[in-house]
Amino acid sequence: CKPTSSVCVLDSKDAVPCPAHTFQSIPGPTNWPLLGNLFDILRRGGLAKQHQTVMDYHKKFGKIFRMKMGSFESVNIGAPCLLEALYRKEGNYPQRLEIKPWKAYRDLRDEAYGLLILEGKDWQRVRSTFQQKFMKPTEVVKLDGKINEVLADFVNRIGEVHVNGKINDLYFELNKWSFETICYVLYDKRFGILQENANEEATDFITAIKTMMNMFGKMMVTPVSLHKSLNTKTWQDHTAAWDCIFNTAKIYIDKKLKRHSSGETEGFLSDIYHNCPLTKKELYAAITELQIGGVETTANSVLWAIFNLSRNPHAQDKLLKEIRDVVLPGQVPSAEQIKNMPYLKACLKESMRLSPSIPFTSRTLDRDTVLGEYSLPKGTVLMINSQALGSNEEYFENGKQFMPERWIENKTSINPFAHVPFGIGKRMCIGRRLAELQIHLSLCWLIRDYEIVATDYDPVEAIHTGTLVPNRELPVAFIRR
Ligand code: HEM
Repeated sequence: CKPTSSVCVLDSKDAVPCPAHTFQSIPGPTNWPLLGNLFDILRRGGLAKQHQTVMDYHKKFGKIFRMKMGSFESVNIGAPCLLEALYRKEGNYPQRLEIKPWKAYRDLRDEAYGLLILEGKDWQRVRSTFQQKFMKPTEVVKLDGKINEVLADFVNRIGEVHVNGKINDLYFELNKWSFETICYVLYDKRFGILQENANEEATDFITAIKTMMNMFGKMMVTPVSLHKSLNTKTWQDHTAAWDCIFNTAKIYIDKKLKRHSSGETEGFLSDIYHNCPLTKKELYAAITELQIGGVETTANSVLWAIFNLSRNPHAQDKLLKEIRDVVLPGQVPSAEQIKNMPYLKACLKESMRLSPSIPFTSRTLDRDTVLGEYSLPKGTVLMINSQALGSNEEYFENGKQFMPERWIENKTSINPFAHVPFGIGKRMCIGRRLAELQIHLSLCWLIRDYEIVATDYDPVEAIHTGTLVPNRELPVAFIRR
């Protein structure tokens, strides 16, 4: 931060060396009565392009700016020092922006909240139930066997379904792979979704996640109560999608718990269920949200990694060499071997920097806070713009280029708060380690067996639909090595 903002975060009880500016004086786009800057956002491509708009605003207004979409007001931060300061002052129960549409569904159907939407002590209780299993490296590495089993099927499937190297709806194929993996991890059961004539229940679940993600953007900027009372098409689709998600997950959970009662006490859910401090309803919600979290984002990150490697054959060759050096021909790659693959890890970091799955996360301040030069009242919604950080030339030289080397050669000069694709602090993504292991192993399998080539070099743009998705089928082909 520049000297004026060197104070960064101090809460109200700390000494403030220089008087902070008011919330109203934070720069930002013109804030019209009632509408805020909604028109400007619509003019720039609407919600689908909001990640781009936010990056443009950071260029124009700087590291911190204020914006208002209809009734939704936020303060946006795009500087590592502000993020670090926020992190250092984090309380015990950090909060994200309240996702009212998701809560409205749970209240309607009398279901519990899971980690994505819980707050306060309840959030902490559920988080600590799963923290050890997901965040402890020695626990996560044990999952490589399961992950590899699914990957063997996935790579076979690529070989079967491609036409001249092209895969019809590669994203959906990756979704099936990530679904099969997370379900195998959670329920200790293969669903066979990568086989021909896969069961419809599972493919409906994937489609329901996409529908639900698509709907929630619209419902965040218009009152949920209005959608509900008018029974709008958006509300109906949103409810139907959640019904499908919950019903499917509950069936899977119940089946596993039944097997547990009949003596199958091995595996993730059994370990959690044993001495579980959660009610059955809470367990349903928590596991359902883990299943959701494990499907869309992981597939999306592999999709973008495939794209970035197709456009950077030199990096792909280097990665292949590293894979061949570490994993012997015919050998199944392991979590242990990944530790010796710095270039593989750098490729994923670089891909997530250039093409993050989730361009921002949020925090709601639980007390008055001074952030940088500004005084922010309790209740302020802070948007943490991870994509804006990753694309800022100040933190990443030649930021538009895919250069995995930067994570090896300039390792010490990259500010860790400039790269936060999984969020930060106590509320960081709980599936991070699992996702990274899955993606690292998937790239080992794919790059070892296939050369991924670009079939055209026209632009591929990212559209925001909850995650950032490509605006067209990826122009890539898989050529068997
Ligand atoms: C939260 C990204 C994979 C489950 C988050 C957050 C981000 C994120 C940005 C918000 C963090 C914050 O606010 O600081 C990603 C990406 C993934 C991924 C990019 C894949 C590449 C997964 C997986 C699971 C999962 C595999 C499930 C096993 C969750 C849950 C939360 C979360 C439950 C809420 C955590 C809490 O509030 O305590 N994720 N995620 N995610 N993610 Fe992930």
